[in-house]
Amino acid sequence: MFDEIYLLTDARSVCDPDITSREVDLICKLLSIKVKNSILDLCGGHGRHSLELCARGFNKCTLLDYSGYLLDCARAKAADHNYPIELIQADARSTGLASESFDHVIIMGNSLGYIGERDADRQILTEAKRVLCSGGWFVVDVANGTRVKESFNPRAWHEIGQDIVVCRERSIEGDSLCAREMVLSKKDGIIRDCSYGIHLYEPQGLEMLMKEIGFRKIKIYTDFSPHKGEGDYGFMNHRMLGVGRKLKKIGEPQEQTV
Ligand SMILES: C[S@@+](CC[C@H](N)C(=O)[O-])C[C@H]1O[C@@H](n2cnc3c(N)ncnc32)[C@H](O)[C@@H]1O
Repeated sequence: MFDEIYLLTDARSVCDPDITSREVDLICKLLSIKVKNSILDLCGGHGRHSLELCARGFNKCTLLDYSGYLLDCARAKAADHNYPIELIQADARSTGLASESFDHVIIMGNSLGYIGERDADRQILTEAKRVLCSGGWFVVDVANGTRVKESFNPRAWHEIGQDIVVCRERSIEGDSLCAREMVLSKKDGIIRDCSYGIHLYEPQGLEMLMKEIGFRKIKIYTDFSPHKGEGDYGFMNHRMLGVGRKLKKIGEPQEQTV
């Protein structure tokens, strides 16, 4: 799913520099990032957060994603600006990165819940905690399941430019959102017809999962929306942020930074 068509269908959320800038404002505020800090942008897609962080002088960013296409886009943009982003194609459940090697780990833009296997998200968050330094902060940004259910709309469509129409048909089954997405080109006909499911987290569920994995000082910020309007952005407008810390080992000072 995460290819050139995704960059069209989700462009309103993931290819808008103002939105990315607002999201990075929030990351910087919540995590108190310092210029010397290393940041892992896990499931970072085409690197919009790493690129924006580098533009602000936080240039120790590592971008990890599964999608070779999105990493190639990030590589090209990083090269254009001479940003030293390290790019890794890997599964976030098992990154191969050294333990305790990042001051901060971020998972932005609703990147959990896509893998059908029951424990997949738990494995991703466990891996995030493993690679995080003791005392480091973690943030995860997912759709707010409570808000999604309250304002559920089973059908939505939007146009992109003169040629593309994106149609989504959705249903909620328990804690899963099932969607069929059809993308039509007026010139070329159907260019995508796919179905997928995504796990929906309620704020308490996300908090519980983070706690079970061992994050502490957890805060869940609900109703985060970088979109100014009230349109249907495929749930990218009803999000929540979970922030947590990997505590230092016993004997190390536990100073507060957030
Ligand atoms: C909705 S996109 C968001 C991308 C990016 N964080 C952003 O905000 O623009 C979700 C991303 O998560 C990645 N992803 C999902 N599960 C993954 C996994 N197990 N390992 C690596 N990447 C994964 C996908 O390839 C995709 O790029």
